[in-house]
Order: sequence, then C-alpha cells, then structure tokens
Amino acid sequence: MTEPTAATDADAANRRALRRELRARRRAITGRARALASHRVARLIENSGLLKHDARLGLFLSSDEEIDTAPLLALAQARGCRLYLPRITSTRDARMRFIAFQTGDALREGPWGMIEPASGTPINPRALDVVFLPLVGFDDAGHRIGMGKGFYDRHFAHRREPSQLRRPLLVGMAYQVQRMSALPHAPHDVPLDAIVTEFSFLRFRRERR
Ligand SMILES: Nc1ncnc2c1ncn2[C@@H]1O[C@H](COP(=O)(O)OP(=O)(O)O)[C@@H](O)[C@H]1O
Ligand SMILES: [Mg+2]
Repeated sequence: MTEPTAATDADAANRRALRRELRARRRAITGRARALASHRVARLIENSGLLKHDARLGLFLSSDEEIDTAPLLALAQARGCRLYLPRITSTRDARMRFIAFQTGDALREGPWGMIEPASGTPINPRALDVVFLPLVGFDDAGHRIGMGKGFYDRHFAHRREPSQLRRPLLVGMAYQVQRMSALPHAPHDVPLDAIVTEFSFLRFRRERR
C-alpha cells in the first residue's frame, strides 16, 4: 500500500470517528435548551446585519439533531428576505439545488428524511447572497465537517479559493459544542466565512489559507 493511500484511509477513519463524537454532542441538546439556542442564533444573525430586505438567503430545514432553523426562517421572512431551500437532485452524485421558497409552498420528504421543496426552479449558487450551512463540526480556522457526503462542498466548490468576491457568504449554524480547535480538512472542503452559535457570530479572516 502506498503512503498517500494509507494517509487518506487514516483521514477518512479519523473523520468518521469525529463525526460520531460530534453528532452525539449535538444530539444531547434537546427541548428547552435547543429552543433557547435556536432563538439566540437567530437573534445573533439579525444583529450581524445579514437579514437585509430582498437579500437572497439559502437556508436548510433542520433535522431534530441539528440546531433548529425555524426561528431564523421566521425572522428572515419577517425582514423581507428571499428564501431558498436545498433540494437533493442526486443522492448518488451528492448533488442539490436551492429552490425559492415562500410560506405555503409544498414541501415533501426527500432522501434521509430531509424536508425539501416539492418543486420549483433552481437558483444559480452564485446568485445567493448568504447561505446558512448545517454542519457536524467546525474549527477555529473555519473548517467544516458535514454529514460526510460533500453536498455543500460540491455545490459551492467555486468558494474553495480565496477571492475578492465572496458570494455567497457561507455561514455555518451550530451549537458551540460542535467546535473543535482544529479539524482535518482536504482541498475539496469549502471553508466557512463565518460561524454562528448560541454564543457568538464569528467571522473568519479572509487570508487563512
Ligand atoms: N467538489 C467536489 N468534487 C468531487 N468530489 C467531492 C467534492 N467535494 C467533496 N467531494 C467528495 O465527497 C466526499 C465527502 O466529502 P467530505 O468533505 O468528507 O464530506 P462533508 O463535507 O459532508 O463532511 C469525499 O469523498 C469527497 O472527495
Ligand atoms: Mg467536506
């Protein structure tokens, strides 16, 4: 076995172990604690100035083990933002599209029990102003690990390289317990521009890579 393959295998095993640990941490937050954290996150995002009227926001509908995005969704709608939700278009190729969403639009249960728009026209990923990303773990440099399929890494691959034009702005949404000081990362991983937890809204420096 060659050295690079061994390193890759070790990294994959390491990511799997990290995901297990970090998912257990976020699953442990339920009920009132989850509701409180979710409202705090929405308020911090509002204070950050990102919820501008007519801004195009990408947002996911959270699962039970994620911080609840419902308070943010309600606040963004009240502020007149335009909302777009991910819809999986290929599980095999880990592809998704963001679809315009308004209250009353039909939703359906998609792969892995995720709730997604039943229909609608996809928006170009570069046309979104801000995208809020789910995550399993984040670190102090803005590295992110997700559920292990790379949906967000693929959809926003153009944001891998630092550039003047940071569009869309990629903001991770997480509980503080999902923080690690440093996470393993690979060239395909798209870094976060900011992270919001129940305690703070933190922007990462532009020239970190
Ligand atoms: N832009 C991309 N093009 C092709 N494959 C990708 C891309 N981004 C991620 N992948 C692949 O998707 C898989 C999952 O990526 P990973 O970063 O581990 O997941 P996640 O970001 O969900 O934690 C990896 O095998 C990775 O090589
Ligand atoms: Mg990744």
